[in-house]
Amino acid sequence: LNLILLGPPGAGKGTQAERLTQDFPLAYIATGDMLRAAVAAGTELGLKAKTFMDAGGLVPDDVMIGMALERVESDDARDGFLLDGFPRTVAQADALEGEMEQLGRKMTAVLLIEVPDEDIVRRISGRRTSQSGRIYHVEFDPPKHEGRCDIDGSALLQRDDDKPEVVQARLDQYHALTTPLIDYYEDRGLLRRFDGTRSPTEVHDHIRATVATLR
Ligand code: AP5
Ligand code: ZN
Repeated sequence: LNLILLGPPGAGKGTQAERLTQDFPLAYIATGDMLRAAVAAGTELGLKAKTFMDAGGLVPDDVMIGMALERVESDDARDGFLLDGFPRTVAQADALEGEMEQLGRKMTAVLLIEVPDEDIVRRISGRRTSQSGRIYHVEFDPPKHEGRCDIDGSALLQRDDDKPEVVQARLDQYHALTTPLIDYYEDRGLLRRFDGTRSPTEVHDHIRATVATLR
């Protein structure tokens, strides 16, 4: 199973990935998480990426393509992978398609989580994340103890790019650069659509049922 999670910022890609990687043996490749790790480690790449991320823009294609494809061709992704946040532009999708052809592998499906813009700001402004990467929402998916992760007990933090004015910029980028991928994958017969306004559990049930029929 080689899967892509597609959808606007705050659609629930990370939330669903957490669950799907428990259902199916998939290597989880999340370019946003990789970039945030580089920022936290203070690497040169991280410092460069942070200026784009904090402005709600995209990190340049050449950087992202190198970063994502290295993981796609790595040993741990050999039995299947779940991409989250990549591809995000037609250039990235073309690069992935070329890579898969070279590896003699095929994409299984592209899972599009649809959520209208009106819901996005509310979702993102309430998001909190733990040290271990568990995703919460103060209203829709709160932790048992306010401000603390259920699993590792760490203090919950807000992402730097979750300020309302940055969220609007991220949405604009999504509509301008990423939505062309919907037609791109529809044309290839790979697109599967999911109503992302349902509860996290309902969305998960729908996606899991669909993925279970694919091979
Ligand atoms: P990235 O980390 O990929 O962010 P994003 O695409 O903006 O998506 P988010 O992580 O914000 O949302 P999500 O869909 O994962 O939602 P979540 O599950 O957390 O990228 C960040 C930045 O890195 C980009 O802006 C860019 O600068 C750069 N970047 C990354 N990849 C790149 C690439 N390939 N090319 C160029 N640049 C790149 O859920 C959100 C909230 O909603 C949570 O609080 C959650 O609890 C809640 N929630 C989830 N599901 C539901 C539900 N069904 N109902 C109610 N609440 C829900
Ligand atoms: Zn995410």
